[in-house]
Amino acid sequence: MVIKMVEKSKYTKRMDGRKFDEIRPIEAKIGVIPSADGSAMFKTGDTVAIAAVFGPRVLHPQHMQNPEKGILRVNYGMMPFSVSDRIRPGPSRRSQEISKVTEWALAPIVELEAFPNTVVDVFIQIPQADAGTRVAGINAAVMALAHAGVPMKEMASAISIGKLDKTLVVDINKDEEDFREGEGSTDIPICILSRSKKISLLQLDGKISVKEMKKVFKMAKEACTKIHKVQVKALKEVGR
Ligand code: CDP
Repeated sequence: MVIKMVEKSKYTKRMDGRKFDEIRPIEAKIGVIPSADGSAMFKTGDTVAIAAVFGPRVLHPQHMQNPEKGILRVNYGMMPFSVSDRIRPGPSRRSQEISKVTEWALAPIVELEAFPNTVVDVFIQIPQADAGTRVAGINAAVMALAHAGVPMKEMASAISIGKLDKTLVVDINKDEEDFREGEGSTDIPICILSRSKKISLLQLDGKISVKEMKKVFKMAKEACTKIHKVQVKALKEVGR
């Protein structure tokens, strides 16, 4: 007789008492920066993201213009006191990477062909961080783009799924991200488009099986459906 040993995960209970598939409490608000063409705040637990959209405006210098479609430009940054260790102000490798992946996550939802030779600038700031800032930034940016009236094909929502030892959890926080036992922690930020359900962002550092990845997609889809409803509700409240 072969006895198959199934090793239990070392992560058995969430540190903040949430269920494995539970998102942190969410808040969404539109119009937080009156001078921007569109703006929004998205908060999940202690992570706060603010997004401001300016444009479409004619792009300068002229040689950077694309006569076939507009350009989406994202600038992501964390405020120096957003975490307990002060962050050096100004761009870093991490902020440049997040700006780029956010640009790629948002580009498929914007009707860029509708405004050639122009640029839409999206500024994302993180005043308070407790993990999941890139996905919170995307959620805020989508609302800010819609608030600005930028033509959009569909909306998008993003979430980070964590793999803590062998356990998958939704909306990982910083304490969970620091989990070191067993296989340690991996976070998987995912952005899902609202109608086509296409994935415009997927990042993964670490090892994961195909079976686990299928579960990640299912958890992300369910979480993004919930987030989408909150984004739509906030936009409806201001008549968008
Ligand atoms: O924020 P996100 O999960 O998208 O990106 P990350 O690079 O995986 O960072 C995870 C978390 O680490 C951030 O949300 C912050 O809470 C924290 N962090 C930090 O304390 N100091 C930094 N220089 C960068 C991130």
